[in-house]
Amino acid sequence: MTSSWKIPASSILFAFLLLALFAVGSSSAQTEQVVRLDGGNCTYAFGVNERGELQTLYWGGRLGSHDSIPPAHSLPEVASFDSPYTTTPQEYAGWGAGLFTEPAVKVSFVDGSRDLVLHFVRATPSGSQSLDVLLKDISREIYVTLRYSMDPESGILARSVSIENLEKQPVLIEQAAAAQWTLPPASYALTYLTGRWAGEWALNQELIQGGARVIESRRGTTGHQANPWFAISRQGGRDTAAPVVADEEHGEVWFGALAWSGSWRITVERTQLDAVRVTGGFNPFDFGYKLKPGEHLETPVFYGGYSDHGLGGASRLLQRFEIARILPQAPDPKPRPVIYNSWEATEFKVDEAGQVALAEKAASIGVDRFVMDDGWFGQRKDDHAGLGDWYVNRQKFPHGLKPLIDKVHGLGMDFGLWVEPEMVNPDSDLYRKHPEWVLNFPGRPRSESRNQLVLNLARADVRDYVEGSLDKLLTENEIAFLKWDYNRNWSEPGWDQVPVDEQRRVYVEFIRNLYSILADLRRKHPKVEIESCSGGGGRVDLGILHYADEVWPSDNTDPFDRLSMQDGFSYAYTPQIMMAWVTDSPHWLNGRSTSLTYRMLSSMQGSLGIGANLNHWTAEDFATAKRLIAAYHSVQRTIVRGDLYRLISPRDGSGMSATETVSSDKNQAVVFAFANATKEGRGFPLLQLEGLDQDAEYKLSSIEGKLHPETPASASGAWWMRHGLQLDLRGDYQAAAVKLDRQR
Ligand code: GLA
Repeated sequence: MTSSWKIPASSILFAFLLLALFAVGSSSAQTEQVVRLDGGNCTYAFGVNERGELQTLYWGGRLGSHDSIPPAHSLPEVASFDSPYTTTPQEYAGWGAGLFTEPAVKVSFVDGSRDLVLHFVRATPSGSQSLDVLLKDISREIYVTLRYSMDPESGILARSVSIENLEKQPVLIEQAAAAQWTLPPASYALTYLTGRWAGEWALNQELIQGGARVIESRRGTTGHQANPWFAISRQGGRDTAAPVVADEEHGEVWFGALAWSGSWRITVERTQLDAVRVTGGFNPFDFGYKLKPGEHLETPVFYGGYSDHGLGGASRLLQRFEIARILPQAPDPKPRPVIYNSWEATEFKVDEAGQVALAEKAASIGVDRFVMDDGWFGQRKDDHAGLGDWYVNRQKFPHGLKPLIDKVHGLGMDFGLWVEPEMVNPDSDLYRKHPEWVLNFPGRPRSESRNQLVLNLARADVRDYVEGSLDKLLTENEIAFLKWDYNRNWSEPGWDQVPVDEQRRVYVEFIRNLYSILADLRRKHPKVEIESCSGGGGRVDLGILHYADEVWPSDNTDPFDRLSMQDGFSYAYTPQIMMAWVTDSPHWLNGRSTSLTYRMLSSMQGSLGIGANLNHWTAEDFATAKRLIAAYHSVQRTIVRGDLYRLISPRDGSGMSATETVSSDKNQAVVFAFANATKEGRGFPLLQLEGLDQDAEYKLSSIEGKLHPETPASASGAWWMRHGLQLDLRGDYQAAAVKLDRQR
């Protein structure tokens, strides 16, 4: 008997009712049941095989509503070296029974057993779009609940897990993924993001060969070095010798992003049977979470999605999903105010008069928000002192922050402030009072980075101090925005207030407390917006983005370097959250000289800010910035909320690059083009635009830069997409921006 399911018109189907009737070890009838989830252009399905394992059946483009999915069958033993337990693509495989591929979960019992084999118990709806599937070990009272929630619009599936110990003894969880994903056997290319301080968001692409590729952070935080996101593009058949062609606008792409701001790991493996499996969650490195009887561990959420419009389609889906479901102001977050930030102008030398002078100049060019960066608190003169002491430095601000904030408000801007709440300098009142509050192993050195140590936020007293100081700051001052920084990674991650076998819970509790502080502050101060910064882009992930309205992608503000960073960033994250400041030239990092126009246009691809020393600007600079900020305001919504098409990639030092963003109603498109170093007198390539309504008429206007004399002032969507847009752009570090507005 095969079940056939009537599919309702709604975007999701839970064919679990019969499944729910079967208990562990029940008759083989359960093998014929299939759970199918539909959303957007995606179908996801799994079933229970003959042995009672939960087995992946399908993940890909949406199937016909009356199609029935064949039931799960565990694979036969092909050779004595290939146990069916290891070759069967399980939804969440416990380490036991001879599993040689990456486990989802690995445990140790007090009697020395380390064998965990999870079988299906039941499936239960947990909401109109979601489902819980309960698994249990074949003999022990370890229960694992797999949570599934399908977004009906995008087809992005949210998966997470709760592991519960109902044994009479504690159990140690050594490894816990949020989800495992299985792709159909084929040849694939993997795309992922790596980087370093001032060099984040480098896009890597490679064929997925036999073996495993691990991307991870062991740092206690998300990290600059890799970002918890992946995309996998189908390469055609099984021919692994095929070249890597991860197509931008065509072909099938599976992607995922992990919502966790602590140590994480994503393993992409191609098994001996050519199955591609992706496992992601807590990083098992140095991990150990002891569950006492009755306790449970919740994993982060691992989101996964599918597009048949190439990497471009995948990133547009994910960007829309972030706006609609992840960000604190979802589903309709306000476009980011154009900010001014004082850091590159003054560094730590902030005082009332200096900030007021900058604020006046910032207001004159149309800035919406004035942000005072590091240096305003405690005994902060440089990076040697003050972190932890969140009171106003009275030498710099004799009357507190109020006079500056009032002045900023009087100039028509709101006020933002820099903080770094999870850190402490040894030279601070806080550390002198509470040296025991930092992560450390007693009797061992406390390694400093940037002269600072990490407060152990897993401790309740530290958590309360951090929340209390920020609550006080926000209550006493009219602050609209916090830039929340985090300028080092962990060392000596000890937590000696709890028993030795519980100390490694720090990897989880620290992050949970961080999230709970952010949630509490947002609840108590609902108007306050937050930026996640970690020496640039060291803490950007879908976990922090539930609490942060925007992020600082990099301390590197060089406008040319930023083009490729912004390109990489856009694969995983929406331009809505991508803050981009215009700073001084020559640039402090590269010594590169660029025009203010080029710098402005580079930053206008995201959420615009100004971080230059305005005291050095000429009247012409002020006029240029004022004109371009006004132009930016008029098209900002299209740029940060529209559909992004990466027309020419700036990667690998490309001489040219271009992007286009189309508003969701297709009424407007904005194109940015950069001639970074053109060669041999060649003009800028004809840009065949994307995503317009081919039958509509669009009027072209310049935001910045000359139009080519032969470019029509108005033409159909078909013309702009098929014939293409010709820009008059050549030379070094030249930039242009145009917009197209629908006429009819
Ligand atoms: C980090 C941030 C910078 C700036 C400094 C201040 O490096 O990324 O933007 O705020 O800290 O110390």
